[in-house]
Amino acid sequence: MIQHTAAHTLETDVLVIGTGGAGLRAAIELHDMGRRVLVLGKRPRADAHTVLAAGGINAALATIDMEDTWAIHAADTLVEGRFLSDPAAVELLCREAPRVIDELVAWGMPFHRETDGRISQRYFGAHRYRRTAFVGDYTGQEIIAALVREVDRRAITIVERVYVAELLLRDGRVNGAFGFELDSGREVIVQAGAVVLAAGGHIHIYRRSSSRRRENTGDGMALAFAAGASLADMELVQFHPSGMISPAQLEGTLVTEAVRGEGGRLLNNRGERFMSNYDAERMELSTRDRVALANYTEIAQGRGTPNGGVWLDVSHMPPALIHERLPRMVAQFKGVGVDITREPMEIAPTAHYSMGGVRVEPHSHWTGVPGLYAAGEVAAGVHGANRLGGNSLAEILVFGRIAGRHAGQDAASQATAALDQAQISRVRQRLATLSQRDGAHQRALIDRLQETVWQGAGVVRSEAGLEQALHALAGIRSQATNGPAGAPDLAATLDLESMLLTAEATVRGALARTESRGAHQRSDYPETDAEWQRTIVIEPVVGERGLGMRLATAPIAPASPEVQAAVDESELELAGRLVE
Ligand code: FUM
Repeated sequence: MIQHTAAHTLETDVLVIGTGGAGLRAAIELHDMGRRVLVLGKRPRADAHTVLAAGGINAALATIDMEDTWAIHAADTLVEGRFLSDPAAVELLCREAPRVIDELVAWGMPFHRETDGRISQRYFGAHRYRRTAFVGDYTGQEIIAALVREVDRRAITIVERVYVAELLLRDGRVNGAFGFELDSGREVIVQAGAVVLAAGGHIHIYRRSSSRRRENTGDGMALAFAAGASLADMELVQFHPSGMISPAQLEGTLVTEAVRGEGGRLLNNRGERFMSNYDAERMELSTRDRVALANYTEIAQGRGTPNGGVWLDVSHMPPALIHERLPRMVAQFKGVGVDITREPMEIAPTAHYSMGGVRVEPHSHWTGVPGLYAAGEVAAGVHGANRLGGNSLAEILVFGRIAGRHAGQDAASQATAALDQAQISRVRQRLATLSQRDGAHQRALIDRLQETVWQGAGVVRSEAGLEQALHALAGIRSQATNGPAGAPDLAATLDLESMLLTAEATVRGALARTESRGAHQRSDYPETDAEWQRTIVIEPVVGERGLGMRLATAPIAPASPEVQAAVDESELELAGRLVE
C-alpha cells in the first residue's frame, strides 16, 4: 500500500529511469556535462537485466578480421534486420561502437585478449566478420560492474527498488515522475528538467522468456505511451534460439549464442545436425530468426527431445576451451546435473528481446514528447526485424550516452516547471484504486496473459491465433478491472497493466503486418512483401474509454551511399552463394 504521509520529494536536472547499461551510461554523461542527475531503478543497483547479456558486444575493431569496417557492420545490421531498421540509428551505432570499447577499456573492462594483447573477437550469428568482443560468457555483468564503478566514482545518486508508476507533465512537457518504494510503499516524487527512460523491454509478456521475474514487463513503454509517445514495430520480438527448458523454474533462461559461436552443434532426436536443411552454408551461425525457426520446426514436426526441445552440443570441443570460453554455461548446466563437456544441452526458442518499442528520433533519441528521451531496449529503431546478437550491448552504451547528452542540453535550456499538483492528486487516486485489487488474482492473470501471448503471438503467428489472443487479452483486462479485492500487490497490478498494453500493441502490430519478415513469421503470409518495408507506428489517442491505440505506418529512410554500397556488396555475395 502506498504511504502518502512520508513522501520523498526529490529535485534534479535530469531523472534517469532504469539502472541497466543505458541508464547508467546516460547518468555518467549527464554528470560529466555538469548536470545534476538522479537514477531510479526497480532492481538492486548492480543487478539490472544487462547482467544477463552473455556473449559479447559488437564493434568493428578489426582486431581479428582486418577487413571489417563500421560500414560493413552497419550493412550486416540492416541486411539481417531485413531493412526495417532506421539506417540513421544503425550508422550512428556502428560508427560509435569502437569508441565505446575504448571507453570500457579505460574503465577497467577485462576483455578477453589474444596472446599479443589484441582484444579477441568471436563470431556471432550472421556477422560477416568476427566483431564480438567478450569477457567469457558474462560480458554484460562486467559492463555493469564497470559502469557502477564509474557511477560510484562520480558519487551519482541511485535510488534502488523504486517502481515508477507515472511520468509527470506540465503543459505537455515531462517534468518528473511519481513512484513508490517497493519495500516500504513510501511515495517517491521527482521533479526534473528532463527524463531519460531506460527501463527495458516487454518480453515478459511471453510465458517462456530469457528475463527474470518482474523485469521487462513493458512498464517503460507504457509510461512513455501514457505521456503521449508513440510505439513502433511492437510485433518485432526476437526469439532466441536457445533457452533452457527444464527444470520448470529455469525455463527460458538464456543459453548464450556464444555456445554456437565457439562451435556448438544443434541436433534433433535422430542425432541429425539439422541446420544443414535450413542454412547449409552458415549452419548454426545462421541468423537468429532462422535458427529459432529451425529449432521450432524440428520440435513442431516431432523431431524434438522428450521435453520438447532440441540438443545443443559442445562435447566435441576440448574441455579446457569450454571452461575458458563458456564458464557460465558450464556452471548453469552443472547446477541442473548436466556436464556440458560430455553431454548435450536441451534447449528451445525463448522470447529474448524487444526490437520494437518507444519511437525515437534517431540522432537524439528524443521521443517527440517535450522533455522525454528513451534509450536501450525500451526504444525502437536499431534492430529491425532481426537483431544481430551482440548489438544490444553496443546499443545501450552508444544511445545511453546520446540520450543523456540531449536530455542534459534540453534541461539546461529552460527552467524546470513546477509539478502539477492536480496530476499528482490524480495519480494518488489511481494508485489507491489499483491498490484495492487482490494481488494473487492479478498475478494469476499475468500467468494467463503470458500463456495467451506465447500461444497466439509466438515464433509462428496466424490471423486466427492473433485474433484469439486479442480476444483473450480483452477478457483478462476485464477480469483485472472487475476482479476481487484483497491483499494488494501494487507492483504486480501495475505490471499487469503495462503487460496488457504492450501485449495488445504486439498482437495488433502482428495482425497488421501481413507478411513474414525476420522474427515476424506468419503461417498465413509466408512471403516477405516489399510493400511492408515500413514501420508500424502505434499512437496514443485519448478517447471516452481512456487511452486507446491508433495504428499508422511510416516509410523507412534510405541508408547513406557508403553503407548502401556495403549492403549491395553483401547482397551480391549472398546471391552468388545461392547461384553456386
Ligand atoms: O546469446 C547471447 O549471448 C545474447 C546476446 C545478445 O542477445 O546480444
